[in-house]
Amino acid sequence: MKKIFCLMLSCLCTLDAMEYRSDESFALECDLKDPLASLRDEFHYPENQIYLCGHSLGLQPKKAAVLMQNELTAWATLGVEGHFKEDAPWYSYHTLVQQSLAKLVGANPEEVVAMNSLTVNLHLMLVSFYKPTENRYKILMEAPVFSSDTYAVKSQMQFRGVDAEDSLIIVAPRDCEEVIRMDDIYDILDREGDSIALVLLNGVNYLTGQFVDMEAITKKGHEKGCVVGFDLAHTIGNVPLQLHDWNVDFAAWCSYKYLNSGPGAIGGVFVHQRHCENDGLVRFAGWWGNNPDTRFQLHLQPDFVPVKSADSWQISNPSIFALVPLRASLELFDRAGTCALRTKSLLLTGYLEYLIKEIASDRIKIITPAERGCQLSIKIEDRPEELLQTLQQAGIMCDFRRPNILRITPIPLYNTFHEVWQFVNILKSHLNT
Ligand SMILES: Cc1ncc(COP(=O)(O)O)c(C=O)c1O
Repeated sequence: MKKIFCLMLSCLCTLDAMEYRSDESFALECDLKDPLASLRDEFHYPENQIYLCGHSLGLQPKKAAVLMQNELTAWATLGVEGHFKEDAPWYSYHTLVQQSLAKLVGANPEEVVAMNSLTVNLHLMLVSFYKPTENRYKILMEAPVFSSDTYAVKSQMQFRGVDAEDSLIIVAPRDCEEVIRMDDIYDILDREGDSIALVLLNGVNYLTGQFVDMEAITKKGHEKGCVVGFDLAHTIGNVPLQLHDWNVDFAAWCSYKYLNSGPGAIGGVFVHQRHCENDGLVRFAGWWGNNPDTRFQLHLQPDFVPVKSADSWQISNPSIFALVPLRASLELFDRAGTCALRTKSLLLTGYLEYLIKEIASDRIKIITPAERGCQLSIKIEDRPEELLQTLQQAGIMCDFRRPNILRITPIPLYNTFHEVWQFVNILKSHLNT
């Protein structure tokens, strides 16, 4: 890929055709031209490091501490009255992140809610959306897949008396290939779709960084009568999404990676409007999912009346302290704009790919396809631990999945072109020695 279009000022203006170069001054020039460069100062950046690990844990927005202190002060000074204080009342605090989350996933605000953590949310979605019958009981997943997704699915099958051995279908890369072919997903749906109750895939794969065609999968799944849901752990805040228009049934995510909301941060879900409005759909219920008009009737109202939004999947009142960092981070996403972030991300990761290919070493191979977000996964063919040690000693923060995959992720909110250049320079010196 030689020619790319520099969309950095806005995705609406047409831009200079730009060609990458491998000299250091090119990287410095790009950083000078980067309209998002000032956002880096909004984060605490680990000292003496080049942080390329935002796919695992995003950096801390500085504003999180300020907002957290506000809530601690409110608690100290107002006690229970904090629920109804003028500025950001706790009672409705979760709605403060709704608009921004909706923008990130391409949804109506009523279709999203921040709550719990990812695997818990997957379970709650499976409760409502995995409805096995005698003839339609299978679940389609992918490989490689994050263990927790498999545990959740298998335990849901077990809970319902469905045998996972017969009922879990896995689509995997073909022999000697690294990523899944879309056609293989469609072929499975053609062949076995009538017995598949649920398609549950990741938008962006945690290991390979492959971004699947979620719209096409949803369409195909629906044609065969399947429910289609996605795990967005590595997708939200990484690539633009249009979940509502794509007609996705549900999705669940965590917020500690691309959403920079801290270790174990609060997760979230998307539930399509048509399901939000369906009172007949079984949800595991709790008072915070009840219609707010009658929520406080407590013992006077024993029957659950779901509010007609994704909020109806909330069970408990949310942790304000968990919502605070998410709020701080989403303000930065709003400031940057999804389009500008994606534009920078494509340029930054494209630059990383270009520089790695320039090294032309047969000891490493990029396995992430062109359909991707920020992450590049690199297979190290020889002595991976040695390379990892060199990178760590040089202050590169990235991660390594056994046996031989290095995951490198430049984040458009806070990484620079120069950091990408520095990383590849260290990589190159190691490979050349
Ligand atoms: C794809 C995927 N699924 C599930 C999880 C588990 O998330 P949690 O601990 O928030 O349940 C992770 C965590 O990194 C993940 O990457």
